Formats: sequence, structure tokens, C-alpha cells
Amino acid sequence: MGAPWSSGTGRLPDGALTVGGVDVRGLAAQHGTPAYVLDEADFRMRARAYRTAFEAAFGAVGTGVDVYYAGKALLTVAVARWAREEGLRVDTASGGELAVALRAEVPGAGIGLHGNNKSDAEILRALDAGVGRIIVDSLVEIERVARLAAERGVVAPVMVRVTTGVHAGGHEYIATAHEDQKFGLSVNPVGDTGSPAMNALLAVLKHPELKLLGIHSHIGSQILDPDGFEAAARVVLRLRADLAERSGVLVDEVDLGGGYGIAYLPGDVALDPERVAKDIAQSVAGVCQDLGTSLPRFSIEPGRAIVGPAGLTLYTVGTVKPVTVSDAGGGAEFVRTYVSVDGGMSDNIRPALYGAAYHAEVVGRSSAADTVLARVVGKHCESGDIVVHEVQLPADVRAGDLLAVAATGAYGRSMASNYNMLPRPPVIAVSDGASRVLVRRESEDDLLALDQG
Ligand SMILES: Cc1ncc(COP(=O)(O)O)c(C=O)c1O
Repeated sequence: MGAPWSSGTGRLPDGALTVGGVDVRGLAAQHGTPAYVLDEADFRMRARAYRTAFEAAFGAVGTGVDVYYAGKALLTVAVARWAREEGLRVDTASGGELAVALRAEVPGAGIGLHGNNKSDAEILRALDAGVGRIIVDSLVEIERVARLAAERGVVAPVMVRVTTGVHAGGHEYIATAHEDQKFGLSVNPVGDTGSPAMNALLAVLKHPELKLLGIHSHIGSQILDPDGFEAAARVVLRLRADLAERSGVLVDEVDLGGGYGIAYLPGDVALDPERVAKDIAQSVAGVCQDLGTSLPRFSIEPGRAIVGPAGLTLYTVGTVKPVTVSDAGGGAEFVRTYVSVDGGMSDNIRPALYGAAYHAEVVGRSSAADTVLARVVGKHCESGDIVVHEVQLPADVRAGDLLAVAATGAYGRSMASNYNMLPRPPVIAVSDGASRVLVRRESEDDLLALDQG
């Protein structure tokens, strides 16, 4: 069917949607709704596409690249295994994500640990697992990791997360001098104390318990233009050269983070991995030539671009209510059809949190009816409980219809909550005409399991 649906999505002659060769009516009957449905072949195809595009482009300019799947987008044991089997490493952002990656037998050396406030326990777990890199985020944390590495008698491999002043998202990037956010250390000097990023890099070098692998930069999410990555890479490579001048150490690796944008609506054009890989590779090669430094090895951390389009959420419509509203100017009246489904902001918080736009279709049948302007809403006690702000649905949409929302694979389940004590939906993988449960649906017993009465 094309974007924003996964590559394994189609329609049967009677109008029912299939994904991974499985009829969604069968999925609903077998697993219930709401349910997250994940097209395994689509996930694997995108993982491979990113790895091969970046390996080819960076290989062509004479260096290597590692692709880390950003587990924060969606991490289950099976998903981590798929990433590993497709030759990706796994980026984790907490002890819990680290535990999932380890349960999936991702080798420690292929795991990165992020976080702006890692606990001692998380750092120790990472050291014990022999993770390939801990991305440090503050001077306090550099001392903490050094102390814990000394306690364990190991040398901790670290990267320093820096902020370049480049923010990206959507179609543009903006460059600002100082960033007002919690992540990373700024490359820009503060008074006469130098730049926090340079100070952190020098602090790491002073510790025999730490090995400085390189510099990390993550500039934003849902980026649809490679310029932001190139601008950030320029800043990081200049910092790397400055560090070499100051310390004699030319670090081996630069990580450019994640943020590669996808299609959420029909007509959206996702960032093409081949194009962005080539643009970045050629740009960094030119920058290193100008700086007179060798090229480092690179790494990237895509999450959404791998798993977002592979997922859809399957709901059942419960109520349909036409509501007469006035347009923003208080003038003309029109009807908006509110379509309530059996999930909502607890299984996808992004529309409420960021105003994120999604696309929905009735997927259990065909309809010859005209379309109406609809808003898909959830069942929570919040008027902001919106699943899809605006979509054209058949005028005969009714209770009992199956409705699917496209491209919910990333940051749906991983940001899900139990608001209103709703059990979180299962994650169902589909592949080659069969479905299997990756994460089961929560039950009322699960909801009460932690309540001590
Ligand atoms: C450090 C880091 N890497 C990677 C990602 C993944 O971003 P995306 O899923 O947009 O590719 C994020 C997302 O917030 C991040 O903070």
C-alpha cells in the first residue's frame, strides 16, 4: 500500500487489510484489540537498508561505520534479536533497556549505554556486561564512572556527549550558540573557563580507569534534511581536531546519533538512507581533509527509522459521534465525527505530547460511502486523548469496525502507560502469514500486582 504503511501491508479484495500475510480480522479475533502489530520483515529490511547504505557510503570515503538500533523506540527481546541478526548493535538508555538487550544475547561489546543520570547500579551493570561504550553526559558522571570502574578493576570505554548548537527536526535545522537543555556538554566556551565539552574530554583523558573512544552528538528527531547532520558533524570533527592539538590524542570514533525521519501521513517522504549516508560521508570526508586529520570511524543510532513504519496499532471502534463545531474564527459551522477506539493516549502519547500527526483507516472491510472529516479519540478521561487529529474516514464508520493507525512502531509501546488503569496492549509480530506474541497483553492481575493494598 505504500507509506505510511509497512512494506508488507496490503488489502484483500473484500477490503480487509493484511500485514505480513495475515488478515487483521484474524489478528483481532486471536489477540484482541487494541494491539501493536509489528511487520518483522519490514523491520529487518529497514535495519539492513540503514546498515548497508551507511557501510557503502562510509566505505567509499575510506572509513567504517557501526549502526546502533536505538532501543528507546521499541525494545523487546525479539526486536533486539532481530537487530542483532541484521548486523546492528543496540543503543540502550537505562538499566531496563540494557537488561532486555542482554536477555536477547546481544554481545556486551555491541551495546551502548546512554542517559543523563545513570545510577551507580546501571553503570556497574554495564561494566559487568562489558558494554562497548558508556556515553557520559556530565563532569559528575565522568568521576562516577571512573570511581566504579576502579572499584571493579576495569577500564571503562566512554564517549562524551556534546551539544553542537545544531537542532534539527522536520525540514530544517537551526544553529544556536548555547543550548538550554539537559543533555550533553556544550562545545561553546563559557566565560574564560573554556568549553564544557573540551573540559570533559580532557577530564576523561586524565583517568587511567577510562578509555576515551570518541565524541557523541545527537541533534533531534524526525529529521528530513541531511544538512543538520552535516552541520553537527563539522562541529564535532573540529572539536576532535582541537582536542588532538591540546592533548595529542586524536579520538577514533564519532557518533552522529539518531533522528532519521519517516513518513507518518500519506504523501510524506521519508529520509532516504542511501542519500543521507552519501551526503554525510562525503561531507565528513571533506571536513577532515580541510582539518588535516584522518577520518574517524563513525556510528549512528537510528530508532524510529527502523521500527516506526514496521508497526501499526489495531483498534476496535466503540462509538461514533457527530459533533458540530465552529471554525477557528468562530464563523462557519461544520461537523467533525468523533470516532472512539478501545485504546488512546495510554498506548500512543505522541499526539497529546507533541501534537504528532498520524493516519488511520477502517481496515476490516471496504466501504463505498463518501468520507467524512473524523477525529479518532481514545477512551481516557481526558479531552486531549486524541489518537488522530484529522483524517477522512468512510461516513458509514460504525461501532465494531476495525481501525488501524499507521507507523506507530516507534515510541508507542515504549512510551505507553497504564493511565486510567488500562492494561497495555500486546506486541504481535507478523511474518510469512503467521502471528506470534512478542509481549503479551497486560491483565487486571498485572495492574494489581504491585499494589500492596
Ligand atoms: C542519543 C539518542 N540516540 C538515538 C535516538 C533515536 O532517535 P530516533 O528514534 O529519532 O532515530 C535518540 C532519541 O531520542 C537519542 O536521544
